[in-house]
Amino acid sequence: MKKILSIIILAVLLVSVVGCGSEEEKMVNIYTDRHYDTDQALYDKFTEETGIVVNVVTAGSDELLERLSAEGEDTEADLIVTSDVGRLYRAGKMDLTKAFDSNTIEANVPEHLRATDNLWTALTVRARVITYALDRVDPNTLSTYEALTEPEWEGRVLVRSSGNIYNQSLLASFIALNGEEEAKEWAQGLVANLARTPKGNDRDQMKALVAGEGDVAIVNTYYVGKLLNSSDEVEVQVGEQIGVFFPNQGTNGTHINISGAALTKYGANSEAAIELLEFLTGEEAQNDYASANYEYPVNEAVEPSDLLKSFGEFKVQNIDLSLLGEYNDEAVKLFNEVGWQ
Ligand code: FE2
Repeated sequence: MKKILSIIILAVLLVSVVGCGSEEEKMVNIYTDRHYDTDQALYDKFTEETGIVVNVVTAGSDELLERLSAEGEDTEADLIVTSDVGRLYRAGKMDLTKAFDSNTIEANVPEHLRATDNLWTALTVRARVITYALDRVDPNTLSTYEALTEPEWEGRVLVRSSGNIYNQSLLASFIALNGEEEAKEWAQGLVANLARTPKGNDRDQMKALVAGEGDVAIVNTYYVGKLLNSSDEVEVQVGEQIGVFFPNQGTNGTHINISGAALTKYGANSEAAIELLEFLTGEEAQNDYASANYEYPVNEAVEPSDLLKSFGEFKVQNIDLSLLGEYNDEAVKLFNEVGWQ
């Protein structure tokens, strides 16, 4: 009888322990290189709606990938969020991520903005455009990225260094579309037309443009929005003096890139992480991304912000985004060969 009683007590204990376990706080741990208030606000909203706690570690993407690699099976991270598909591709190559399956994400994100092997999904889209000085450049003189290598643009082009992954992905897209030789010619031609040795970020290129150091600058679209909505009046004035031009509309389209996310291979909270991705690609979150950070939504049910709409619609460069990662090493090599600092 005593024995039976102790078995019953043991069983009751077990049930209560397991019961407690299922009531444990659900969470998602994110490694991200995005440092925008928008993102945190979205994570807070997700927590409010689902009760799932979101913990965020922010650092440079290379550092995060190294950390994830070093942590191996012991990692706490469930999700990597990063700008530029090149980095998501790299994470896949390093075997740090795992494929996910979600009908909701498939419905929210068009196929060309997801990995064919389901290793990542885009969260936002940005275009790499040509901005120009409104007071001295006639947009009718602009056409393609390639045309910026013509002699008429000598000493007039501003762009950041080749160490930046946005430029690496741009050149990788040319390698994918036109082959290595033509891509190299473009990089060489652009270096020959630079207004100055590359320095600073995309915003700095537009500031230099307005200061008269050059006449055109290659930048990502959302930085124009950031200038125009800056709390710094000087930045607002810079934003007001530049125009946005979508290159290659008559040829293969304007280069786009993404911010996106991937599930870590060893994350313990994959289910919650997928739930978060479903939320982030859903209409509500996509609206917030679009309006607060001036990025293009990936969800086609959501319209871009009025600012982005004012730039106009454009034809998007039509290549498999994974190729931007695949040709990254080659792009870096070409940049070194032509002396793009
Ligand atoms: Fe950026």
